[in-house]
Amino acid sequence: MTVTVRVPAKVNVQLGVGGLRADGFHDLANVFFAVALGDEVTAEPGEGVTLTCTGPDAASVPLDDSNLAARAARLLAAHHGVTPNVRLHIAKAIPVAGGMAGGSADGAAALVACDALWGLDTPFETLLELAAELGSDVPFALVGGVALGRGRGEILEPLPVAGTFHWVFAVADGGLSTPAVFRECDRLREEAGTGSSDADVPTPDADPALLAALADGDPVALAAALTNDLQAPAISLRPALAETLRAGTEAGAIGALVSGSGPTCAFLAKDAEAAAAIAKSLEESGTCRAAHATYGPVPGARVS
Ligand code: C5P
Repeated sequence: MTVTVRVPAKVNVQLGVGGLRADGFHDLANVFFAVALGDEVTAEPGEGVTLTCTGPDAASVPLDDSNLAARAARLLAAHHGVTPNVRLHIAKAIPVAGGMAGGSADGAAALVACDALWGLDTPFETLLELAAELGSDVPFALVGGVALGRGRGEILEPLPVAGTFHWVFAVADGGLSTPAVFRECDRLREEAGTGSSDADVPTPDADPALLAALADGDPVALAAALTNDLQAPAISLRPALAETLRAGTEAGAIGALVSGSGPTCAFLAKDAEAAAAIAKSLEESGTCRAAHATYGPVPGARVS
């Protein structure tokens, strides 16, 4: 028996970052948007937990127990008191350490795949709790669509959205560490004299104009409302990202922002044809390693 699960990447159409909490996390107003660019995780009977990976970035994917897919398999087995026996394979299309929650996606996919392979029938609510233990972005990869994430991003409220939006993602050479980008955000706040703790920074909230643009299926309004508090810190650590953003805008993107903690850059296009043209220009611009046209929203991790 082989179980195959497709799982989407995410872009944050709003990433409002609050102050640093005592537990080392930041309170967020995080509007997640699931895109069709995704990974495929297969699960087959095996002995212990083994993991393989293919795809252009496979060499930079850790195959040990630090991989969220392996951790997910062990966590689900421990929750049910069963022995974790599974051969997991990741067909990787999501950029690694790219700000698109690729590792989190594989963790969510492995939960769903092992649940089916082992015939556990775990309630969705329980899968969500296990996902939150694995990481802040893992629950959203189960839910998909568009959702507002509060807390550290794990408390999710699905949002109404109309139609399909067309996106282009420009993949950088090399990744950025998420904790390092959050630290740079705190450092820039200290430098600006505003303070960086949760006592100094107001708790962010979802932008009503952004929510209306999603509900109306209006790409121009969504483009105008895109914000990411981690963009300035990501550019501070990787100044070349400003060139990538400029190249996509010059190629006709109606909106441009760093995806999550970067370094992938996300561009909103007015339609599928424009997205294909923007991807081609970005590849020719020499400001990124590769560019992919895609669309969303799409569902979360599902057996295919
Ligand atoms: O939850 P996850 O393991 O994906 O988070 C990775 C790191 O990103 C955390 O250890 C923390 O440094 C940072 N983070 C944060 N605030 C969040 C989510 C993540 O500071 N809301």
